[in-house]
Amino acid sequence: MQNKIHIFDTTLRDGEQVPGCQLNTAEKIEVAKSLEELGVDIIEAGFPISSPGDFNSVIEISKAVVHPVICALTRAKKEDIDCAVEALKFAKRKRIHTGIGSSDIHIQHKFRSSREEVLKQAIEAVRYAKKSVEDIEFYAEDAGRAHLPFLAQMIEGVISAGATVVNIPDTTGYCLPTDYGTKIKYLIDHVKNIDKAIISVHCHNDLGLATANSILGVVNGARQIECTINGIGERAGNTSLEEVVMVLHSHKDLNLITGINTKRIYSTSKLVSRLMRMSVQPNKAIVGKNAFAHSSGIHQDGFLKHRDTYEVINPVDVGVDKSLIVLTARSGRAALRHRLEALGYTITKDGITELYKHFILLADTEKQIEDHHLQVLFEDFQQQDGVKNSKPSL
Ligand code: KIV
Ligand code: ZN
Repeated sequence: MQNKIHIFDTTLRDGEQVPGCQLNTAEKIEVAKSLEELGVDIIEAGFPISSPGDFNSVIEISKAVVHPVICALTRAKKEDIDCAVEALKFAKRKRIHTGIGSSDIHIQHKFRSSREEVLKQAIEAVRYAKKSVEDIEFYAEDAGRAHLPFLAQMIEGVISAGATVVNIPDTTGYCLPTDYGTKIKYLIDHVKNIDKAIISVHCHNDLGLATANSILGVVNGARQIECTINGIGERAGNTSLEEVVMVLHSHKDLNLITGINTKRIYSTSKLVSRLMRMSVQPNKAIVGKNAFAHSSGIHQDGFLKHRDTYEVINPVDVGVDKSLIVLTARSGRAALRHRLEALGYTITKDGITELYKHFILLADTEKQIEDHHLQVLFEDFQQQDGVKNSKPSL
């Protein structure tokens, strides 16, 4: 089995559905170009029938972007598919993403229909889309809660109708990682034409499991991950691109690779956060402000002796200049000395012991000790009894 994992970015579709995150066409083009630089394989550019603005954005993104496949979302309806075909007319490489609910909850309560009817509609939609576009992805919405044999029947039917990619969404973020992985394995074992399509994972983060579920999906044979920058998306968000990519990058033992230029992760995250006016939580994995910041004395001491003691990713690999040593009341002497030396001061061992007493008193009142605090602290200390212990080298 191939070990390349296709990265399908849906920041501009599932991500953009978040209230307050809507972008205009120019902003979407800026994000799309940045995703192209990042090396994503597929950009889901929008849901053309949803609004004239979205329709126009799919057209303009198709013109602006060269390498990634441009994908447009539809429901399993002819008018949606016709609209997507029209919006994709300038795309160099195009894909239609059509689908329908697959769980009994969706079938009974959303469609007030039956499994048989929904299966028929799914197959007809794929067949219809296939007349205009070769690359057709089918999503079985709420597959995470669908009856597995029925899901397998639906997937087999849409592959026979021409689907090239089959998306198994955990739409509500309900699945446990091992259960989700088992579902993917079940489809591989029970859908007889599964070798004719790529299995895609599309996980939501309602229980904080989107990344784990996506990883278990590819470990069990899926070969495409649907994700968004910074994990933005409906409710608690989608799988975050930076997390899945760096999991695969860090765990070489999985032998799964992506085409992502990881050094562009941080700048893309910043761009999306700025344009969508959606700040990134400080402790967010990979791209949060504190993702490479060390503040406790024990961690700082270990990190300063050898980076790998407290870091599994080199920040440079994701485009962050360097790790941060943050000085707080939990910091130790090693970090204090490190920061003083970075500021150009040298200080003896006894000197640092003495200065540390003043530092910790100040740190108890200030939340964080900045360089200007250290300069004042050091100069006061020099003027008192520290002169014999210190030597400014500025
Ligand atoms: O979460 C979901 O099921 C979706 C589909 C439209 C792919 O976003
Ligand atoms: Zn979704």
